Amino acid sequence: MSPSERVVIVDYGSQYTQLIARRVRELKVYCEIVPPWVETERVRAGSPGALILSGGPASVTHPEAPQINEEILDLGLPLLGICYGQQLLVQHLGGRVEPADEREYGRAELELSAADEPLFQGVPARSVVWMSHGDRVAKLPPGFRVIGTSSNSPFAAVRGPGEGIYGLQFHPEVFHSEHGTRILENFLGSVAGLRGSWTMDEFIGQQTRELTERIGDGRVICGVSGGVDSSVVAVLLHRAIGPHLHCFFVDNGLLRSGEAEEVEKIFKSDLKIPIKVIDAKDDFISRLEGAIDPEAKRVRIGHCFVEVFEREAASIPDARFLAQGTLYPDVIESVSVWGPSATIKTHHNVGGLPENMHLELVEPLRELFKDEVREVAEKLGVPDALWQRHPFPGPGLAIRVVGEVTRENLEKLRAADRIVIEEIRAAGLYAGLWQAFAVFLPVRSVGVMGDARTYENAICVRCVSSRDAMTADWADLPREVLASISNRIINEVPGINRVVYDISSKPPATIEWE
Ligand code: XMP
Repeated sequence: MSPSERVVIVDYGSQYTQLIARRVRELKVYCEIVPPWVETERVRAGSPGALILSGGPASVTHPEAPQINEEILDLGLPLLGICYGQQLLVQHLGGRVEPADEREYGRAELELSAADEPLFQGVPARSVVWMSHGDRVAKLPPGFRVIGTSSNSPFAAVRGPGEGIYGLQFHPEVFHSEHGTRILENFLGSVAGLRGSWTMDEFIGQQTRELTERIGDGRVICGVSGGVDSSVVAVLLHRAIGPHLHCFFVDNGLLRSGEAEEVEKIFKSDLKIPIKVIDAKDDFISRLEGAIDPEAKRVRIGHCFVEVFEREAASIPDARFLAQGTLYPDVIESVSVWGPSATIKTHHNVGGLPENMHLELVEPLRELFKDEVREVAEKLGVPDALWQRHPFPGPGLAIRVVGEVTRENLEKLRAADRIVIEEIRAAGLYAGLWQAFAVFLPVRSVGVMGDARTYENAICVRCVSSRDAMTADWADLPREVLASISNRIINEVPGINRVVYDISSKPPATIEWE
């Protein structure tokens, strides 16, 4: 990647900033999100080829609204201001921004007013765009001109004097802006002259070289969970340093049916990476005794992980590095629009590790988004069974046993959960769902089996569709699938005489019960 093949996105707190970054990456240009108070030197050091100013919830007319760093503007880079970014640019360069009479939210029609505009190559004269703003530009700075309008925004798209400065009132990054990706592609390609060479193949090659160089003949400890992130980390490291990598998998007794065996098989047989399975079932389950409150369960499980981890690390005395599956959304500095007081998010897996271990962190995925990790997984030959699995919470089945976690309750849950997954897969529904699982309910109810009266526990089946787990809807499963799940659980799982289906969306419910 030549140094200028990257874009810096200044984040003014929009809910869409990460979406801008993902679109840019999809167009094969590497990009980085920085906060408005970023030091000029940090931006300059990356030799970016273009700058994007994101949208944001503040009003540029507010005296404490986040500003733009003049020195960064002076770098003379091609520049695209989106929504708040456009208003900031306009105000900064001598134009005027004011509150609009009506807030414009949602669908609008963009009408292009300039032919042959490089930003709009291939975009029809009229197209649908997505707006979300309260303020709007009222007067342009000297030398600026309008290149697109909408019924409520006479300055829907503007262009600065000279080359490469643009402002858009609408959001080209959102799916509902029909030709939004094309506009971003034009900005990166025709305007900024970026070729688009950021590919996952290139990433893999570059990371492997960097890891080999950095680690040398040091030793790395890598805990794998069976999820896609830690698996990809292990595969990359194994390519880079081979036998200097020590992978382990903790069987905490809170896993799904057959999970430990499956992960071990995938690592040993398919990936040919040695892995040590640590049987810590007793540690975790005895630690959970008497814990009813979901947060108490999480805390105890977290402590137990740290202890098991310390024990394991001590068995590799010359280990110098600790590998982690940290992703880009975990390291982006979160923006509080009113200033740099916002904390830097720490990855939930990093949080609990003992500081006295003095291990250097190796985080080869910290530049990637989740969908990029999946692509890397595919390219590295990680079996589909692993990277297409539904998300599974770190505390495992402990948070799906409502109430006290006992071996007996876990066993019932595990058996029911296996049936849910088997039936969902058999019906060809697995890939289309975000998650499908069973929850053990500690209530007992009356039933009748044969001639006998029963008084047993209930299982709740939860299947949801979602794009990102922020919101989710319950899945409207075919009646026959629900029927066979229910029949099988009641017939095959001793101690369960009732099955219910969860029809709550998120919000207001959550995906997990705890
Ligand atoms: P909720 O229940 O908050 O879940 O709607 C959103 C997503 O996060 C997962 N989840 C967890 N993952 N540790 C994890 O690693 C946890 O404590 C945890 N709680 C929820 C959940 O499975 C869903 O995908």
